[in-house]
Formats: sequence, C-alpha cells, structure tokens
Amino acid sequence: MSEEDRARITACPDGPLLVRGEFELLDTEGEPIPRKRRTVALCRCGLSSIKPFCDGTHKPAGFRTDD
Ligand code: FES
Repeated sequence: MSEEDRARITACPDGPLLVRGEFELLDTEGEPIPRKRRTVALCRCGLSSIKPFCDGTHKPAGFRTDD
C-alpha cells in the first residue's frame, strides 16, 4: 500500500471528519456503507440528515469544536 492509499482522518474545525484513502465504512450491523467518492465527510455534530455523512447542517447550526 502506498503512502497515498493509507487512510487518513482530518478533523475540520467546527465541521466534519474528512476520511481519505483506502478504508471500509460499515454500519451498526457490520454491513458496508456504499460511498461514491474516495474522500468522505463524516458528521460529528449529530445533526446531519444523511448520517453518517455530513450534509452541511453543522454550519447553520453553529456547531463548534474545541481547539
Ligand atoms: S458535521 Fe456536518 S452536518 Fe454534522
């Protein structure tokens, strides 16, 4: 696996977790969650209507993360 393929998780300030690289996303039953893109944004504000993905709701909701 190349360095570029390694999974990386980046916490966006006041926003989602960006996950890039090779990884598998599973639901609570252990079933794969299909994704269309190589990079996905996972909600961490809890308000998205398309969980586990971010739908941008964190912005109007004023979601804030600690420094
Ligand atoms: S982090 Fe974006 S909707 Fe929750």
